[in-house]
Amino acid sequence: MEGLLSDWGGERLLVHHDHPSGAWILIGIHSSRLGPATGGTRMQCYPDLQAALADVLRLSAGMTYKYAVPGFPRGGGKAVIRVPADLEPGARGALLRRYGELIGELGGMFWTGPDVGTSSADMDVIAEAGAPYVFCRTPEAGGAGTSGPLTALGVYAGIRVACQEVLGRAQLDGVRVLVQGTGSVGGKLIEHLREAGAELCFSEVDERAIEHYRDQLGLRFVPSGEVCDTDCDVYAPCALGGVLDAETIPRLRCRIVAGGANNQLAEEADAERIRARGIFYAPDYVVNVGGALGITGIESMGWSEAQAAERVIESVREALLRILEMSEAQGISSEAAARRIAQERLSDST
Ligand code: PHE
Repeated sequence: MEGLLSDWGGERLLVHHDHPSGAWILIGIHSSRLGPATGGTRMQCYPDLQAALADVLRLSAGMTYKYAVPGFPRGGGKAVIRVPADLEPGARGALLRRYGELIGELGGMFWTGPDVGTSSADMDVIAEAGAPYVFCRTPEAGGAGTSGPLTALGVYAGIRVACQEVLGRAQLDGVRVLVQGTGSVGGKLIEHLREAGAELCFSEVDERAIEHYRDQLGLRFVPSGEVCDTDCDVYAPCALGGVLDAETIPRLRCRIVAGGANNQLAEEADAERIRARGIFYAPDYVVNVGGALGITGIESMGWSEAQAAERVIESVREALLRILEMSEAQGISSEAAARRIAQERLSDST
């Protein structure tokens, strides 16, 4: 645990035990250098507290880089709520309310939005006591709604740039894309890709979603165990993190990895592993910036939806082009290039 914390390099970690529910709330304030620490609230069961801690530390650092690459005036943070497996639905709402009180007490030290396991409706509940530090409330409650569509738009823009630069394909028709996960980001991404004429296949674990995409939309289904061995041009991980590691990278049969999931690399060394295979990895926090950037822009900077969409597409495009150029010129991985861009921004600001 000491190792985890000292490698993190963040500013503050808040650990709160919610006695009534037995949940643990961990809030990682990684950096407030560019602005107030901002990041989603992830709510799930973890095997132990150590796993939840490792997740919040990595995710909060990812938020710092996510906002730093486009130079947006927000810092990086993340909250993880480790819930017990037997949490009752009634207890969940009460837990979210108490969590909202905590956000309110922090008085703007941490601003939040949805992430894995939380929704816009949950943001409404958190905002009861946590406003104004809560993004993505439902439109009925005065918010801009879920961040999934803007995230998907950015991932789609990233795939287009990568295909153009790496494959020399300016259009996506006939480009073979495997989308892993059909949730709020993956599902929307599939819509954009279908419209552009890509040849799609998908992987999913939820039976109802499998039926929808396979039987109703006629997309080829790839079982989870075969994702890494599937021949395709682009692999888009849009489910959980840690999909790229020493075991899966040698198996990959794609030219590009670009998807919406956070923390796709299991460890730092995987960035070099993937580069050594001649596969272009679009760093996760660079292409999945859309939701965080777009919604924060709409709700705190007064952007219109159209402006947000434009800024998201432009930011992802500009960043990826620069990353491609830097990694080529300096012989470094795309992840190392992205980190350098982020570090430049962080050290520029005074
Ligand atoms: N889940 C979003 C992300 O990882 C978090 C977020 C959404 C933060 C909206 C702020 C506003 O980028």
